[in-house]
Amino acid sequence: MYEGAPISIGDSMAAILSYVIRHELDGKQIVDLMQLVNLHCKSEKNEMKTSLYFFKKYFSCLDCPVIYHYYCSSCYANLKEKKSQCPNAELHTSTSGTCIFVELPLIPQLQSLFTQEEFYSNLNYKHTRNKVCQENLEDIYDGQIYKELESNGFFSKDKPLNFSLIMNTDGVPVFKSTNKSLWPVFFNVNELPPHLRFKKEYTLIGGIWFGGKPYANLILEPLLKPLKTIESGFAVTPPTSEKSAIAKGVVIAATTDLPAKVMICGMASYSGAFGCQICKLEGGSVKIIKKKKIVGAQKKNTEEVTKTSSVWVYRFTDDLELRSHSETIQLGIQAQRVLQETNDPKTNILGVKYPSAFFKIMYDGIRGFAIDDLHTMYLGVTKTLIRLLFDSNHSTEVFSLRKYLSLVDQRLMAIQLPNFLERGVKKIETDIAFWKGTEFQTWAHYLSIPILDGIMSERYLEHYVDLISCIHILQSSSIPPEALLSCDKTLTNFVKNFEVLYGTRYMTMVFHLLRHMVFVVDNLGPMRHTSCFPYENLNGDILKMIHGTRYVETQLASACFLIKQLPKSLENLSSQHVREFCNKLLHPSLRLKKLESIDSSMFSVGTYKLLSSQCQYAYDALAQLGIQKGVGCTIQSFLKLKKGKLLFVSRSYLRSVRTNSFTCTFLLDNDTLRYGAIDIFVKVSSNFSTEVRFFAIIQLGVVLPYVIGKKQVPHISRYSLSKDYVAIPINQLRDMLVCVQVGDKFFVCQPIY
Ligand SMILES: *[C@@H]1O[C@H](CO)[C@@H](O)[C@H](O)[C@H]1NC(C)=O
Ligand SMILES: *[C@@H]1O[C@H](CO)[C@@H](O)[C@H](O)[C@H]1NC(C)=O
Ligand SMILES: *[C@@H]1O[C@H](CO)[C@@H](O)[C@H](O)[C@H]1NC(C)=O
Ligand SMILES: *[C@@H]1O[C@H](CO)[C@@H](O)[C@H](O)[C@H]1NC(C)=O
Repeated sequence: MYEGAPISIGDSMAAILSYVIRHELDGKQIVDLMQLVNLHCKSEKNEMKTSLYFFKKYFSCLDCPVIYHYYCSSCYANLKEKKSQCPNAELHTSTSGTCIFVELPLIPQLQSLFTQEEFYSNLNYKHTRNKVCQENLEDIYDGQIYKELESNGFFSKDKPLNFSLIMNTDGVPVFKSTNKSLWPVFFNVNELPPHLRFKKEYTLIGGIWFGGKPYANLILEPLLKPLKTIESGFAVTPPTSEKSAIAKGVVIAATTDLPAKVMICGMASYSGAFGCQICKLEGGSVKIIKKKKIVGAQKKNTEEVTKTSSVWVYRFTDDLELRSHSETIQLGIQAQRVLQETNDPKTNILGVKYPSAFFKIMYDGIRGFAIDDLHTMYLGVTKTLIRLLFDSNHSTEVFSLRKYLSLVDQRLMAIQLPNFLERGVKKIETDIAFWKGTEFQTWAHYLSIPILDGIMSERYLEHYVDLISCIHILQSSSIPPEALLSCDKTLTNFVKNFEVLYGTRYMTMVFHLLRHMVFVVDNLGPMRHTSCFPYENLNGDILKMIHGTRYVETQLASACFLIKQLPKSLENLSSQHVREFCNKLLHPSLRLKKLESIDSSMFSVGTYKLLSSQCQYAYDALAQLGIQKGVGCTIQSFLKLKKGKLLFVSRSYLRSVRTNSFTCTFLLDNDTLRYGAIDIFVKVSSNFSTEVRFFAIIQLGVVLPYVIGKKQVPHISRYSLSKDYVAIPINQLRDMLVCVQVGDKFFVCQPIY
């Protein structure tokens, strides 16, 4: 930083950037902070840059130039420069400024990734993964689309140079006062293992749109050329050799919410005729009559006013005619021809308005477009169902459970969730508007069935169980092909009966899409690999770095580089102190102090204490394995164990009142899967040798099938604890389960993490 400084300029920049991100500083605050830091530095040979400009420049990847595209915000005509006059200026009066698409060249981003050891060496993951079951769908590689590319000879086993991409985009509103939003276009490499696939440093940013809602071709056409080059081959230099090689990439999947999907496909609307992007169901409108009492000034003359409105719905029909990639392109071309004759901006043919560049980018734009879980399942289907059941709006409907709402909330608040579900769930009555996607997910998979049991009538609950069971299967990490077939049948029945049980007017697009869920999973693998969840954070990170509308395009470009560069500069830190500081700022919740490594994937957390003599059951359990206190060994206890991604917290850890991270499955005697509650962990050290062994003391549970009406809930079991305790070697622990208590009944649910 300056002569004799204890910290290098690189470390300092990384630390400051971590601080900026953690505390969401804006441009002014960053500049002030830099000046403040500089006040404390010697001025001789000072490398500390005092302006934001230099700060950003320091992190910029200067060899990847950014390309700015400008458009008129009234008519979206292409402008040469930011200040150019719109060629159609005479046709529209308002001059509301420009929209910007900041293109970040994709090929240099990919070339940089290919030089990195961690990236390159992990591209072979699909060949090295351990499948739970060979026939099952466990990743995108097991979907039809990937298999087609494989049989075309696109992927080869020995050289991981050919790869595939998944695309995402979504509108992120900025500055509440304007109608402008950011639309980043992301690509991720499917060949990376799931834990690396969506990491920031491996996410490619094709570009960011800033302005009103874009058209597909405005944000995709600039990407078309580079993506075609990527498809036909570009030079990379893998870390293992000096020679360059040719790599090829194809976009096989896309995932977005419904409004973005309609935009990307060049379609008219998802709540109008032919709104489904997968099939050609027209749908129809139904009238809604609302009666409203208007109380006049003098309370006597109350009037009853009826208001009618209509909604577009997709009623159940048995046969659905699917769209195809090539037909959709043709429909777009036809629609453009018709538009030239009619000049009606609403023109569309079977819902398609124009030929979107998306179909030139994708291997198959219809089969490759996922139904995303976050928006469709959780913020769509799940949220709508909660609203139908509990909103005052629907309190007179037969299905309404409004009168039980406080009981439901009471049950909800009493539940102790495991710590892998980051958020607890807030009350429905007061806080449903603040629920995030993960809360709807937790409600759907784990909480809703046991909570609604006894409240919802059996007919409705059986119907609901069908939905949740199917979603649970499609979200799981290993899906048997026969389960896929039965899900399709069950979901079809669910949608058919939904119309009967809830009414035609609620048959909106999200419920219709349930019928295509299996189609999508068959093509792209389990839903978890085409989810929009990972992109939420990325969008948030970019948003945090945009401060004010001035020079927004340079802010956007810097934001992208900062986000992608930070993880790399963190890896490169020379000072351990700075590294710890940055990690603390960036991952405030992930800090766990390792007590002792047990093996490569497990470590103990906390402190060791001599096992209390009050834990007689624990001594008894150990004695069954021939381990006794004082007989050549020391027995200590500890409370927490980190195993892979999971942090088991034993029941004896009294501070965790709101969580239950001790209900688990484990192997007893190496072969039978059992359930139970981890009471405490023990470490047994020999007094004569260096031998140490680790055990979990577990109170054994008993599970029974959970049956509702005539249906068994496959992923939830009734559960009770027995009086027996066992000691099991720690490597026999398996999963952490979600334990749900409602009244005096206990349930355990298989997790989908
Ligand atoms: C990449 O794909 C092409 C087909 O486009 C194929 O001929 C080539 O062998 C593949 N290369 C590798 C290393 O898989
Ligand atoms: C935002 O859009 C709404 C409706 O499209 C419009 O009424 C409003 O004036 C717009 N606001 C701004 C600041 O442009
Ligand atoms: C009640 O329903 C109407 C339309 O059906 C909706 O616009 C409104 O937001 C609903 N109110 C609540 C509190 O959900
Ligand atoms: C890491 O540090 C080395 C030496 O200080 C430097 O040459 C290299 O460019 C740095 N890498 C990154 C990604 O910053």
